[in-house]
Amino acid sequence: MAKRPFVAGNWKMHGTRAELGEVTSISIETETIDNVLVALCVPATLITRAVSASPGFLIGAQDVHHEKKGAFTGSVSVAMVKDAGAKLTIVGHSERRELLGETDEQVRDKAELAIDAGLKTILCVGESLKVRETGQALNFVQQQLEKSLPDMVTAPVHLSIAYEPIWAIGTGKVASAEDIEKMHGRIRKVLDERYGDGAASIRILYGGSVKGSNAKEIFAIDGVDGALVGGASLIASDFMPIVHAAAEVTKD
Ligand code: PGA
Repeated sequence: MAKRPFVAGNWKMHGTRAELGEVTSISIETETIDNVLVALCVPATLITRAVSASPGFLIGAQDVHHEKKGAFTGSVSVAMVKDAGAKLTIVGHSERRELLGETDEQVRDKAELAIDAGLKTILCVGESLKVRETGQALNFVQQQLEKSLPDMVTAPVHLSIAYEPIWAIGTGKVASAEDIEKMHGRIRKVLDERYGDGAASIRILYGGSVKGSNAKEIFAIDGVDGALVGGASLIASDFMPIVHAAAEVTKD
């Protein structure tokens, strides 16, 4: 991995005040690891508390609305998560695309608003099992990415892409090293074509059942600049081995 790797946890709909100790443990344990960028995307209700409990540590949101403000009951805006202390947000996670019908255009608008506001942004893409089985995964993800990428002239410095095959999320299944390398290569090509030289600073993360036991192997794959981690990010003792694996691969 050429860039400083980025390991971000996604707590999804898990976590109340009782779990804040895990945030604190992770933030303390990462203090001495300066060659990996580490973040936790917690539920919106925990952002402020997590920021107070771990000053200086990168706390993020898991989603933002695609409009700046308005009559959108239950939604949170970029300005709101920023005000709560988030420095980062995920956009376009497959659980929102699939379960809530979010479109590529909405994901693009979210990414634009977040980047404009100075938030680091992890934009997720990934194919379903059905698409993978028809042999169309590369083309599907390319098109999804092309439509979801922020419409900016220069490369957004705060942007990362997370490739998360839907069938690998929370299932214990991981894409093969060959498939990950091919997909990250395709994503890199799309970024280069869209943003030119500046695209080099955009990280491409892998997500889907990343764990301490497989992290080293995944980080060693060409084109993988980090990971987006769900289940294994909830507890410090599961998450830290992944961070350490990223730190070790950089030293190779
Ligand atoms: P997982 O989730 O690590 O539990 O598979 C990854 C994600 O959805 O971001």
